[in-house]
Amino acid sequence: MIVDRLGRRFRNLRVSLTAACNYACTYCVPDGKRLLRAENELPATKLLKGVTMLQQAAGIDKVRITGGEPLVTPKFDEFLLGVMELPLSDVSLTTNGQLLPKKKDVIAESGLSRINVSLDTLNPLRFKQIARGGDLETVLSGIDSMLELGLKVKINMVPLRSQNLTEVPMMLDYCLDRGIELRFIELMRMGHLLHSNNFTSEFVSMELLLDTIGEHYEFARTDAPYDSTAVRFQIPDRGVFGIIANESEPFCRACTRLRLSSDGFLYGCLSSANKNYIGDLLDLPSHLVLPKLQGILVQALGDKKLAFQGEVTVMKLIGG
Ligand code: 5AD
Repeated sequence: MIVDRLGRRFRNLRVSLTAACNYACTYCVPDGKRLLRAENELPATKLLKGVTMLQQAAGIDKVRITGGEPLVTPKFDEFLLGVMELPLSDVSLTTNGQLLPKKKDVIAESGLSRINVSLDTLNPLRFKQIARGGDLETVLSGIDSMLELGLKVKINMVPLRSQNLTEVPMMLDYCLDRGIELRFIELMRMGHLLHSNNFTSEFVSMELLLDTIGEHYEFARTDAPYDSTAVRFQIPDRGVFGIIANESEPFCRACTRLRLSSDGFLYGCLSSANKNYIGDLLDLPSHLVLPKLQGILVQALGDKKLAFQGEVTVMKLIGG
């Protein structure tokens, strides 16, 4: 097992199935253009081989399927059904939810038990302004269909000072009423936000968020697992919510994440542009892949930072 001097190792693999996305969220893409797939994206079979090899070489035992938007690519079904057959302790999916009504059957068939849906607002007009693609009603019906299937649902919301901060209590109500855990993600300095004034003007800190929530709810901090990215809070008799407090309470020292992009690169850290191509390796027989992969994993682990500094890498490529 490869471990660094802080005791960090890779356990959670996030696989981006495609860089393509049917949204163009303001905080992700600067020009309002929806995203295209990357050149030379790997097919599902090769991404699945990547997961198997990384299980063996790095001890990966959790996989999150992400994008871009993972539901827009035709390889989604094959990847999902394939990854669910692997001996992993946990598989989850991050999606913007727009295509959930269409993918309900394959999700049911796969046996997936949990899903994270990105949703920044419950206001249809504001939805169009932030996501710049899709529509709110479809996402809400997609969430309903997942709850009907019995999946555990979490919602990711990126609070933005001028756009949706006032909606925080409404979003919490919506989630608490449905047994959904709401997770606020502090805005990250990724891509065009790295050197932009918009980051400073839109950033909502954990403190401000908790003040806002405190005007409506009583809550208490609760324990979260060691390598969880979220700080969690309990609202008595109602449920829990979490904050991914990337800036206010960085979690880099306990980070166990590794990322595989749709075009075959491994990233050891979201706050580093360093990457290693493994697409060609995956064509070799397994016994030849493993030693080469070990060397790459040592480098990738070395890329992990002690604190999040932001990066020009755009979230769309590696799905957060
Ligand atoms: N800061 C915080 N969250 C972001 N996401 C995408 N870009 C950013 C950013 N710059 C979120 C999406 C999605 C999750 C994968 O990451 O809204 O919920």
